[in-house]
Amino acid sequence: MKSFRHRLLIMIVGWIGLLLASLLIIVSQLFPLYANLEDPATIWLLLFLIFATAMVISTIISHRIIKIQSQPIENVTETALELVKGNYRARAVESGAVGAVQLSATINVLARNLQEITAIRQMEQERLKTLIENMGSSLMMINRQGRVSLVNKPFLRELAMSNENIQGKLYKELDIPTVLAKFIENVFMTEMPDRDQIDFSIGLHQKHLDVYGAPIMGEHERWLGVVIVAHDISELKRLEQVRKDFVANVSHELRTPVTSIKGFSETLLDGAYEDTPTLLSFLEIIHKESNRLELLIKDLLELSKIEHAGFQVKAQPTDMSAVIERAAGMIQPRMEDKAILLNLQLEPVEVLGDPDRLIQVMMNLLANALTYSASETTVEVHLFKEQEEAVIRVKDQGIGVETSEIGRLFERFYRVDRARSRNSGGTGLGLSIVKHLVEAHHGKITVDSEVGVGTTFTIYLPLAS
Ligand SMILES: Nc1ncnc2c1ncn2[C@@H]1O[C@H](COP(=O)(O)OP(=O)(O)OP(=O)(O)O)[C@@H](O)[C@H]1O
Ligand SMILES: [Mg+2]
Repeated sequence: MKSFRHRLLIMIVGWIGLLLASLLIIVSQLFPLYANLEDPATIWLLLFLIFATAMVISTIISHRIIKIQSQPIENVTETALELVKGNYRARAVESGAVGAVQLSATINVLARNLQEITAIRQMEQERLKTLIENMGSSLMMINRQGRVSLVNKPFLRELAMSNENIQGKLYKELDIPTVLAKFIENVFMTEMPDRDQIDFSIGLHQKHLDVYGAPIMGEHERWLGVVIVAHDISELKRLEQVRKDFVANVSHELRTPVTSIKGFSETLLDGAYEDTPTLLSFLEIIHKESNRLELLIKDLLELSKIEHAGFQVKAQPTDMSAVIERAAGMIQPRMEDKAILLNLQLEPVEVLGDPDRLIQVMMNLLANALTYSASETTVEVHLFKEQEEAVIRVKDQGIGVETSEIGRLFERFYRVDRARSRNSGGTGLGLSIVKHLVEAHHGKITVDSEVGVGTTFTIYLPLAS
């Protein structure tokens, strides 16, 4: 830019000098100045004046020309520098000479294109990031150098880690379960896809992950690293275990009475029937066991019905105190046999529920209170309203349950003391049925218990109003 200015300045000075000199010659031709021009001092003075005037005029003119010529170029240069810095919103002023306007317009088109490309790239990056973070699986990418180049939030959550102690670290240095580290190592070393189910514990939790690892191939089959995708299947594993336990429990529960019935009937057929007292006692056992079998099948069918996805109770405004009184009336004779006092404290409360199902719930809870209490104790039933809910509390002074067992009481077939509960004729399905029925009423059930002191079951049900 500077050399252009210098050249322009010299050129203009030359032209103006020539112009002024020509003017002087023309003027001196017209007017008689010859006499004076013979004096060399006058000539030098005149020449000096001509060139000084030429200098001043040319400086002013060249300054203006340079300004007009260079301003758009400077503006375009500034805009280009801004673009280089990454500011794609910079625009050049489209004014000045025709060429400059064209240049500014071109640079502006370039800037607009760059801005659009950046916006599209940003949008795609956002989309990819959202996808990676919300894909529902854990994801980790490791580059060729074996460093973690990308990790999503589910991955960090699954392994209870923070981004700082994983991002950019060598995969070998990561504080992750050994089974997972071995899996990653295998995929990284062999550069072959692999899939596995791994189990490990984080704190108190047992985790089951379905992991998939594969090499990342770039252009021309260039190996860029590996990607690890993990899916939490802990819940699936738990459900699988529940199903296995259920089948094992059902088989076991069915086999016990069947074995007993088969054994006693075979003994009778072998000749024991001839002794009347033995015959009677064996028949009694067979009758009791077949009753148990019937009860078990009835409870199983009931549970499968209640657990069915579409199961709904026939909810209607129901007088809960009447329900409790009816259930109490049914169990009263058995309570009296065991000298247990049944104490009802009922406020008038209307709930939204199915009276028959609610009686079933109350019968199960009262039967448990009766079964797991010693004689000459008291069973209390309270009914009252609390914060827009009906609260039913069944409190006994029975054997109680260990705190560690409380969480398992509602599991199918779960019994704290198997032998004892079986002697009482129970199937271990009562509380699971109760829980499902309460939940079908949009209610909730909780347990509070202390060994040797007693157990309290509390049910919360929605009010009719
Ligand atoms: N009130 C209670 N006091 C102490 N333990 C209880 C009480 N209620 C339930 N339990 C414990 O919880 C277990 C599960 O109860 P649940 O009612 O489901 O089965 P069950 O009473 O054994 O048989 P059933 O299916 O005939 O009711 C019982 O076996 C018992 O160990
Ligand atoms: Mg029971």
